[in-house]
Amino acid sequence: MLSGKRIILGVSGGIAAYKAAFLLRALQKVGAEVRVTMTPAATRFVGTETFSSLSKNEVAVDVFPENNSATQSWTQHISWGEWADLFVIAPCTANTLAKIANGTADNMLTSTVLAARCPLLICPTMDGEMYESPAVQKNLNTVQEFGYHILEPEEGYLASGLEGKGRLPETDIILEKCRAVLKGYRSEEPLAGKKVVVTAGPTREHIDPVRFISNPSSGKMGFAMAEAAQQLGAEVTLIHGPVSLSKPTGINTVEIESAQQLFEHVKNHADANAVIMAAAVSDFTPQKIHQQKVKKDKADSSIQLKQTPDILAWLGDHKKDGQVLIGFAMETENLLENAQSKLKKKRADWIVANSLNEDEYGFASDKNKVHLLGKKDTVQIEGLKSEVAQQVLSHIFKNS
Ligand code: CTP
Repeated sequence: MLSGKRIILGVSGGIAAYKAAFLLRALQKVGAEVRVTMTPAATRFVGTETFSSLSKNEVAVDVFPENNSATQSWTQHISWGEWADLFVIAPCTANTLAKIANGTADNMLTSTVLAARCPLLICPTMDGEMYESPAVQKNLNTVQEFGYHILEPEEGYLASGLEGKGRLPETDIILEKCRAVLKGYRSEEPLAGKKVVVTAGPTREHIDPVRFISNPSSGKMGFAMAEAAQQLGAEVTLIHGPVSLSKPTGINTVEIESAQQLFEHVKNHADANAVIMAAAVSDFTPQKIHQQKVKKDKADSSIQLKQTPDILAWLGDHKKDGQVLIGFAMETENLLENAQSKLKKKRADWIVANSLNEDEYGFASDKNKVHLLGKKDTVQIEGLKSEVAQQVLSHIFKNS
């Protein structure tokens, strides 16, 4: 997939700039041709010579090169923009992200972003607090609206000595994402270039810091749906509650706890081409969340609850043109009747109905047996969750 591809590697000024040298080597190893553009700040972390030696090409930093060499001219951002099959910015600092979100073109990297005709993959890398800041989150949303791809940073120890979400993912993961992005542009994939949001796992509704209302959802079916959508070429965002599954490669993941948090994140992605609500959303949440642990001698034995927002019903009421809405139904009785009524009530296009009365199947199982209910037909699908997910999506996208 990457062999023979022409890739621009954009390096901006963060400590992870040194990792870009390994990414460059890895891209070359799989047969890609790589050119590097660095921001002036990036050159304070790694010298241009490192990248020019490795890429065997001059490294572009300023729009106006110091000495108008044979290979560099002030229009180089235009020719590179036309040349590339993929533009990867790794690491992408908060500053460079902000410039991209605003269309600023004050150096070779940001100018080439505007000139590029190929897909753009941004790997935001910064301190955890900076990553979570409202401005950075807004800029991430903006660049996603432009159609740019994001590879979310990983959690772990950061250069600041703090722990948080902000690390540049390992080279293999970036490579995988590059493949997924390029694959998404292959028009023969049924979901190529389409955005799909999948929710998975349980929610937790806290009573106090140590107690919560939840359910035994393992997230396996939702994760399988996300992977199946990715295999069909979609760009997938997976929003999930607390689960003990490893993150699927090449899929943007967002972790949430409560139904309200899930709702907020789903609303941010409500323009997706398809939304798959596989999460087991709690229907109720405590009216009051105690800030401190409730002591048993002071506790009231009853908890007042209020309903959580029905996210699928909200999506049904705010459906975009051509959007496909897929819900799930978990039932202990009257499976098809209840699933049919959810399909109508929530204005979904499809409901994947599971029964909890099947011994072999259920929350933690690797297998599933479902009825897929559409507006016109119902089919039964059984097998490993990964197979069920693939068949569900291939049935839906043949019939949507
Ligand atoms: N769902 C949702 N928001 C909620 C509850 C459920 O978006 N607050 C979604 C689920 O993700 C699923 C579908 O609605 O796709 C059906 O969920 P289910 O729990 O089976 O049904 P409920 O609507 O909660 O109704 P009931 O619990 O009465 O069966």
